[in-house]
Formats: sequence, structure tokens, C-alpha cells
Amino acid sequence: MHVPYPPIHATHVFLEGQNRPHHGVRAEKNGLTQGVCRRWSSHGQSLCRTRVQHHRQVRPPASPPNAPSFAHNAARARALTEELSRTYGVRATAMQADMGNEAEVTRMVASAVREHSRLDVVVANAGWTKVATDFSDLDAYSAEEWNKIWTLNCVSHTWLLRAARAALRANTDGGAFMVTSSIAGIRTGGSSLAYCMAKAASIHMTRCLAKTEGPHIRVNAVLPGLLDTEWSARFDKGMFEEYREEVPLRRLPTVQDCAGAFVFLAENVSMTGQLVQVDAGRTL
Ligand SMILES: NC(=O)c1ccc[n+]([C@@H]2O[C@H](COP(=O)([O-])OP(=O)(O)OC[C@H]3O[C@@H](n4cnc5c(N)ncnc54)[C@H](OP(=O)(O)O)[C@@H]3O)[C@@H](O)[C@H]2O)c1
Repeated sequence: MHVPYPPIHATHVFLEGQNRPHHGVRAEKNGLTQGVCRRWSSHGQSLCRTRVQHHRQVRPPASPPNAPSFAHNAARARALTEELSRTYGVRATAMQADMGNEAEVTRMVASAVREHSRLDVVVANAGWTKVATDFSDLDAYSAEEWNKIWTLNCVSHTWLLRAARAALRANTDGGAFMVTSSIAGIRTGGSSLAYCMAKAASIHMTRCLAKTEGPHIRVNAVLPGLLDTEWSARFDKGMFEEYREEVPLRRLPTVQDCAGAFVFLAENVSMTGQLVQVDAGRTL
């Protein structure tokens, strides 16, 4: 049954890489974008009911994401937005953009604002890595690969904030800007040295921007540990078992647990500049 929904609040979440082939295999795993969209939509719906019941006496929470973006696979992005609308009664629009292109980032945010009239929550989730686990190999990357890793994991996130800033500031309850970083940014290991460096930079970016963007915008980051997504399909399979055995919780963190952290950060209006690790204790 369709549940009446309050005015549409546009949120930008990156949605890419669905069903894209990795090493010739057609992957079908869901990434963080899908997890965050589903979690938020389901959460948002019940929050909105609460809001209606309380005749707006309760402070409206951050709205669910309804403008996921994607890089390549339009059909899959459309399938997700249709699923969100059907299952949770939210309006969802998929938008295509290359996050490595500043003009496209700006265009996409403008389209999201035009389409949904406002932005409350923005998640900078795009990322890219080259697997090169021998950190001593400084020849492992071309200049182009260094730039791509740096741009997609860090610099493009500043482009996104710049494009979204006015719309987030216009939110009377304050906007939320969140970054998907990684525990690779605080460890001396991960898919590659370049990736670790870029994620470390994104963590520092989060803290610096939290200071400059207050009081209007809260800036926080989620740092996942190893997730079983298409991203990690290219990693050595033994890595998963090793991770499980090493961490105190003896399990892999999940996309759903990360999605819960994003929702929590978006709603908590007293937190900014915070890094939430969802890693089953990997860095202890
Ligand atoms: N999986 C893990 O173990 C893990 C751990 C810690 C942090 N993370 C972070 O989590 C985020 C999401 O990863 P995921 O695990 O959900 O895997 P994922 O589904 O592969 O998501 C990463 C996305 O970044 C996108 N991207 C790459 N280049 C892009 C571009 N030029 N323009 C727009 N988007 C682009 C990719 O889209 P295309 O494939 O279409 O290019 C890909 O969908 C990333 O920032 C990653 O660094 C992942």
C-alpha cells in the first residue's frame, strides 16, 4: 500500500557499478549505495509517519535518499529506483554522472535540486582503487592511476560539497554531508598504498570541513572494514576468512550495518567531524 509521503526531499547518493563485470564475471552483489538507499527509504517512511502523527511537533529527520546516481549501468539504477518507489513509497530518481569530472558533478547536483527542489543529505560514496597490495612497490601505478584514485576517493567529494553547499545550507534543520572513507585510511594496509593515502586524506578533509561548514552543514564519515561487495570481488578470496579470524567480532562488517551508520549520522544533529568505523573491530 502506498503510504502518504511528506514533501520530497532530495538526497544524493552515489549508485554505480551494478552488475558490472569484474574479471569476466558478471557480479550481482549489492554495494553501499543500494544498501544505504534501501535502509534510508525504509527508515524514512516510518519516520515520516511519526512526523504526521505528531502534527509536525517533532523535528523532521533527515529525509531518505531519492536521487541515487550511477556511472555506467542505467538499467540497474532504474531497477533500484523503481524498487524504492514500489517498496517504500518514496520518489526516487537515478542520475548518471562521472564523478571524476567536475562539470558533471555540478550538473548532476543542479539536476537533483531541480528535480526534487531541495537537498537534505548528501553521501559522497564514489571510490576507485587499483589492487597493489605490496606497498613497497612504488612503480605499481601510472600517473593516470594515481590521479584517478586521488580524484575519485577524495577531490571529487569536495566538488560535490561545493555543488551541494547552497542547497544544504538552505535546509532550516541543517544539511548533512557524509563521506564513505575506509579503515584503509587509518591502517597501514589495504588494497593499495595510493588508496590508503586517498582515504586518509578524505578523513582529514571530513574533519577540516566539519569545522568550516558548521553551523549549517554537519560533515561526517563512515569507515567500513572489508565488505563483501562487487568492489571486493577482485580481492583474494582468502582475505575474507583471514579478516574474520583476526577481528574481535569474528565476522565481516555488512553493507546493512554501514547503511545504519549513515542514517544515524544524518539524524544526529550534535555530531560533526566524526569518523564511524564499521569494521568488526579490525583496528583494535
Ligand atoms: N567493499 C569494501 O571492502 C570497502 C571497504 C571500505 C570502503 N569502501 C568504500 O565504499 C565505497 C563504495 O564501495 P562498494 O564496496 O559499495 O563497492 P561498489 O559497489 O563497487 O561501489 C564503488 C563505486 O564507485 C564508483 N565509481 C568509480 N568510478 C566512478 C566514476 N568515475 N564516477 C562515478 N562513480 C564511480 C564505482 O562505479 P563504476 O563501477 O560504475 O565505475 C562503484 O560503483 C567506495 O568509496 C569504497 O572505497 C569499500
